[in-house]
Amino acid sequence: MTAGDHRDITTLGYVRDAYAELFKPPASTSRHPPLVHRGYWARMTATRTLCDAFARGCGEERFNVVNVGCGYDTLAMYVLDAHGARARVVEVDHAEVIGRKRAKCERSEAWWAATTSGAYAAVACDVRDLGAVENVFGSDGVAFDWSLPTLVVAECVLAYLPEGKSSELVGFFGARVARGAFVAYDPIEPDDAFGQQMMKNVSSRGCAFAGIRDAPNVRGAIARYVENGWKRGTAYDMNQVYARLDASERARIERIERFDEFEEWRLIMAHYCVSFAVNGGEGFLAGFDLGATSS
Ligand SMILES: C[S@@+](CC[C@H](N)C(=O)[O-])C[C@H]1O[C@@H](n2cnc3c(N)ncnc32)[C@H](O)[C@@H]1O
Repeated sequence: MTAGDHRDITTLGYVRDAYAELFKPPASTSRHPPLVHRGYWARMTATRTLCDAFARGCGEERFNVVNVGCGYDTLAMYVLDAHGARARVVEVDHAEVIGRKRAKCERSEAWWAATTSGAYAAVACDVRDLGAVENVFGSDGVAFDWSLPTLVVAECVLAYLPEGKSSELVGFFGARVARGAFVAYDPIEPDDAFGQQMMKNVSSRGCAFAGIRDAPNVRGAIARYVENGWKRGTAYDMNQVYARLDASERARIERIERFDEFEEWRLIMAHYCVSFAVNGGEGFLAGFDLGATSS
């Protein structure tokens, strides 16, 4: 999934995103097939749905969102537009990505206003180094208020970390977030025939899902939370996620681009998962979940 896919699913009408144009790639990049668009819509909608559920679960309280490995996504502005003055968003990625993102964000009035008001911060940090992560959130960093409910999002990031590092990072936040949640989207099932091919494809593009071994399936994704400081965890593969998204929205986007490669679609969706975990007292974020299954 690329900034090009993001722009394409916006242009095609899958999602509304006033900021997608900021990150548009060079015009020559080719368009992915409809099932990739539908999958991208599903994971974006799942993340947005969980962000909204988190905001609702915080009542009137202010809250933090930390977007780890934010890349060029526009989640920060989705949260700030939807939840106004209550939200503060801190985004973290490698220095090179953050530098480029800041330069692009300066072209957006709304993004710039959020930066100057302190509601938004983009910080360079290699999250493999927990000392560096500590500095980002310490008194010399973004002056982070850990007493507020905090949602950590890591969309398509943990699997890129070296084996063991994703669990450490989940544990870093698990130890500090007394009231909050962690949401992740990751590839799973690297060992069946499709999974082996997926791993080869990623390696041939010069990266690797080294961290997939930390949570190679939905059970592993839950275990990574409960073994690293989080009270309760949930994980769904993307077929389960899709079935839980709003039925009328699914019907709407299914009319945008039709396809009949359902076997391939289900196979791809079985190899990605959305997982989430919650910390807090009895009743806090009690209903934090995607919707109920419907066909
Ligand atoms: C596949 S992209 C996902 C971007 C974004 N979360 C999204 O969903 O569109 C993975 C992102 O993780 C970042 N990343 C990978 N390893 C990282 C590390 N060690 N420290 C900080 N960021 C990292 C990459 O730079 C990249 O922006």
